[in-house]
Amino acid sequence: MSKFIAKPATTLSGELKIPGDKSISHRSIMLGSLSEGVTKVSGFLEGEDALSTLKAFQAMGVKIEREDDNVTIHGVGIHGLKNPEKPLDLGNSGTSIRLMSGILAAQAFDSELVGDESLSKRPMDRVINPLKDMGAVIQSNDGKPPLKITGGQSLKGIHYDLPVASAQVKSCVLLAGLYADGDTCVTEPAPTRDHTERMLKGLGYDVRVNDNQMCLTGGGKLSATAIQVPSDISSAAFFMVAACIAPKSDITLMGVNINPTRTGVIDILKLMGANLTLSNEREIGGELLADIRIKSSELKGIQIPKALVPLAIDEFPAVFIAASCAQGETILTGAKELRVKESDRIQVMADGLDILGVKNEVLDDGIKIQGGEFKEPTSIIESHHDHRISMAFAIASLRCAYPIEINGVDNVMTSFPNFVDLANSAGMDITEV
Ligand code: S3P
Repeated sequence: MSKFIAKPATTLSGELKIPGDKSISHRSIMLGSLSEGVTKVSGFLEGEDALSTLKAFQAMGVKIEREDDNVTIHGVGIHGLKNPEKPLDLGNSGTSIRLMSGILAAQAFDSELVGDESLSKRPMDRVINPLKDMGAVIQSNDGKPPLKITGGQSLKGIHYDLPVASAQVKSCVLLAGLYADGDTCVTEPAPTRDHTERMLKGLGYDVRVNDNQMCLTGGGKLSATAIQVPSDISSAAFFMVAACIAPKSDITLMGVNINPTRTGVIDILKLMGANLTLSNEREIGGELLADIRIKSSELKGIQIPKALVPLAIDEFPAVFIAASCAQGETILTGAKELRVKESDRIQVMADGLDILGVKNEVLDDGIKIQGGEFKEPTSIIESHHDHRISMAFAIASLRCAYPIEINGVDNVMTSFPNFVDLANSAGMDITEV
């Protein structure tokens, strides 16, 4: 089990290039594989999660070549996937298993989707239920992986009201809808990341978006096109918070995706008083990008607006560190989904904050954090193998006078393989042992 030792640091500087967006990287492999023609992807995230998707599609007969962050996918068309010889191991990746179950429910062959210890505890009934409504046959371990999908079913389109604001469930249903008879529509209770819709449109598929409803008609085809993956705002968030809390900082994060369904963290940090500016806003391949400059900031505690929760869902571990360094109290509610991420992010963050002497109160659907100072850690922080918990506590070292030790940091590789190198090049002092 690997561990971070994050020693105190005060200064953060430089122009940093954050790795590619995880959500778009997954989708580039899935949709590139189902396209007709060759898809060239640049800026692909070389993290374990996206590589799990890549290997799974290779196992289904798709020729995919990778040279660092450049990937070439020889698409097989919507109906060209082959029967994998073994269960598809999706590691830690919720996005892989949930989106792929939509695709695999519609194939002629049977398949089995498995994952690691964390993934095997995560709820899959949220995708199984709508897929069953469409005619899929799926067995699970009491709503959790492994998922055994029986092929050869003909799916029918449905109108599905998402019970939770989840881009993974929305995407799963839309991907199954590509194969279904008639129209498939998904209505979401709040906006969630819309990369699937944008990318399907970019590949020539007619996706009709009306307010909070997305519809498509099965039976079309996807035409390959080049995909440039922008930097991941979820990874950038650690550096945004790091620069806000560091006593002396001035960093610029280059070419970060600022898709409006992902920018909750920018809005939250600005409400807290962050010294954060966007420049050079541009559009590439249907996604918005900007350079983001952040300097040391006097943060204040806030009540986080509920509407921002789904738009910042992966960034709360970092936001909790910002709240710990802010003046006054920060209150988060309406964020129960955090309990079913790679770990229970409300409880696991609260446990780590306790170790650093930060007063907090756990709520069923959120947390209250009293800003103050990080004290000498009373023990090692347990990340529960959650990548974002590990990185969140590593950046706390910019405001802690003592080394912080974090256990179980192996899964940082799933989303941000060069996190330690990049953090150290900017001025932090993190060692992995
Ligand atoms: C993702 C959607 C979100 C997010 C996850 C990636 C996606 O999950 O937390 O990291 O790529 O669609 P939910 O849909 O479960 O909120």
